[in-house]
Amino acid sequence: MNCFARITGTGSYLPAKAVTNHDLENTVDTSDQWIRERTGIAVRHIASDDETTCDLAEQAARRAMEAAGKTAADIDLIIVATTTPDKIFPSTACLLQARLDVHGCAAFDIQAVCTGFVYALGVADKFIRGGGAKCALVVGAETLSRIVDWTYRTTCVLFGDGAGAAILEASDEPGILSSHLHADGEYEKLLHVPGGVSRKPGPLEGDPGFIQMKGNEVFRMAVNTLGRIVDETLEANGLEKSDIDWLVPHQANIRIISATAKKLAMPMERVVVTVDQHGNTSAASVPLALDTAVRDGRIQRGETLLLEAFGGGFTWGSVLLKF
Ligand code: COA
Repeated sequence: MNCFARITGTGSYLPAKAVTNHDLENTVDTSDQWIRERTGIAVRHIASDDETTCDLAEQAARRAMEAAGKTAADIDLIIVATTTPDKIFPSTACLLQARLDVHGCAAFDIQAVCTGFVYALGVADKFIRGGGAKCALVVGAETLSRIVDWTYRTTCVLFGDGAGAAILEASDEPGILSSHLHADGEYEKLLHVPGGVSRKPGPLEGDPGFIQMKGNEVFRMAVNTLGRIVDETLEANGLEKSDIDWLVPHQANIRIISATAKKLAMPMERVVVTVDQHGNTSAASVPLALDTAVRDGRIQRGETLLLEAFGGGFTWGSVLLKF
């Protein structure tokens, strides 16, 4: 009897162009020291002008499929978490489906900003547990650089582009143990891109098309909310803090990550940190971190992982799984 959804392969991709803190010192009034101390970021990767979110998603997806030993014929669900789709429609998931030569299965995008991959995993888990899919491709992919004002130092140092993916398969061995998804739209104005499709001025014209953020308030909310989601997840599974082998957090800011690790009483050696290497890649950050620690051999089969994220909306969530 298949009753679990289990990750059987991961993949990730960063665009070739790397922009260091020193590079940004040449364009805005900032310093490598300020960025490292306040955020933990050293470098971010930026998609080239002709590279899209779907291009990044495709690379990550192919790597995850290869790691899981799956071909196009095996995939029966595609979910792409993104805030920066190639087009208004079709969805990036449909564009990716065509690239991969997958036909007929359900394919759709999820928009939960930085919590997107956690949402997508939670939804894919429910599909698989409910018998609606056997082999899901779940991707988080972003070209966030397109909605960053590169003349505004407060935000431009924080974000980057990238993609991460996982293959989730039906299994009788434990995989995802629980997912916890939340949102509160009341906080819209603390972190948002005002421009949109329906709202005037039109799609992403000028300033309304850039990320606007009240950094201090977002920081405080993120730390408090992630502390609560950790408690909720442990309680729902009857687990102690010490039962978690790895924390795989959203990679926004090292200080937010450290605060969550402290709440879990986890030494930083058990926390996957990649924010230094790519900054905040929104929906791509959790699968980028996961893939990094799987490929370098830190995360081993049978270990218990806590994935968590917080982002615009606000949205927040966690996934507890046996790897
Ligand atoms: N380089 C140098 N100085 C900068 C700067 C930069 N890139 N950005 C801001 N500053 C300055 C500010 O202007 C301010 O100067 P002032 O004291 O003269 O007014 C000073 O640094 C402190 O700014 P503040 O905003 O209080 O810094 P902070 O410690 O809160 O750090 C963030 C700012 C953005 C790094 C932090 O608030 C943060 O990470 N917030 C969460 C953001 C986030 O994760 N968003 C996505 C969630 S998914």
